Amino acid sequence: MAHETKHAHRKDEHLALAEHFYNAVQRNDFDQLHLIFRNLPELGVQDVSLETTIFDQKIAAPIYINAMTGGSSRTGAINEKLAQIAADLRIPMAVGSESIILSEPESLETFSVVRKVNPTGVIFANIGAGKDLAAAKQVVAAVAANALQVHLNVLQEIVMPEGDRDFHWAEMIREYQHLDVPIIAKEVGFGMSEMTISQLEQLGIRYIDLGGAGGTNFVQIENARRQNHDMAYLAEQGLSTVKSLLESQPFQRDQHLTFFASGGVRQPLDIVKAWHLGAKYVGISRTILHLLLHHTVSETETILTAWLEQLRLLLVAFGVRTPAELPQVEHYFDQELYLFQQQRQS
Ligand code: FNR
Repeated sequence: MAHETKHAHRKDEHLALAEHFYNAVQRNDFDQLHLIFRNLPELGVQDVSLETTIFDQKIAAPIYINAMTGGSSRTGAINEKLAQIAADLRIPMAVGSESIILSEPESLETFSVVRKVNPTGVIFANIGAGKDLAAAKQVVAAVAANALQVHLNVLQEIVMPEGDRDFHWAEMIREYQHLDVPIIAKEVGFGMSEMTISQLEQLGIRYIDLGGAGGTNFVQIENARRQNHDMAYLAEQGLSTVKSLLESQPFQRDQHLTFFASGGVRQPLDIVKAWHLGAKYVGISRTILHLLLHHTVSETETILTAWLEQLRLLLVAFGVRTPAELPQVEHYFDQELYLFQQQRQS
């Protein structure tokens, strides 16, 4: 899988910088949301189930390894390991942006390896929103994908020195409806507002990954790759995953849209909180990347299997049998989050 070009080098830089800025104890908006435990749950762990389906396939829990990488030799090897974990845990996985295979077909193997390792699991292809329908078909085929993530990453692009400068994306997103796999419109860590969700709905999108702030920060990462004209002042921009989920709530009621939440998930309690706010599936990127860079595949699987057990225990403590019942749990917000909600509802 030897593949080293300037484009491929960027993939290595993203990986290294995501790890460089990783901070396991970084506070984020999940800390502003408090769920209320039950003292008499009248449940045992045997009553609880995480098993569910996605795009008509069974999975062990509504969580997934979110898009990160592929394109270089090093990132191909990481994809191979992530695919092994996804297969063994029976959870979905997304590959990173596959645009590189359009200009550098030799890099294809760094993505297709994921399907080789995990022949029957759920895999999401990934592409930037500006690419045409033929390109989208190609990246779906490369991993025999069950769905295509289309990333909307304006803030990342504007800070990326070699990033896009033209953002006429809507028509292309409408075109993607001609594909024979579902489309998931996805942010990369800056979240989505009610207005964006409404626009996507009007474009025919039914699956949305809110990709909020609170974890991987692509302003920080791309700014570190700039030689000059610092743009770090944008690092605090974007909506957190928690705030994006609040923005999505008016749309959750009509059952028309399915929300995926990702961004800043550090441990099982964050997953439970995202399910509580209405996410059907919760994605994790850098926390799993960090585990994998410091442990073997088998050790990482042991840690994530313990997470699944902790998720079941947390559900018991909150008095619910499935993740889908979590919205019934009572909660309260810290002041800043409360004020956000009041302002946005008025
Ligand atoms: C990403 N992410 C990403 N997203 C995407 O749609 N296409 C991509 O190519 C990438 N590349 C990428 C590389 C690396 C190293 C990381 C850590 C992340 C974004 C990712 O899918 C997710 O939306 C954000 O990282 C937020 O989640 P975490 O990292 O806070 O869990």
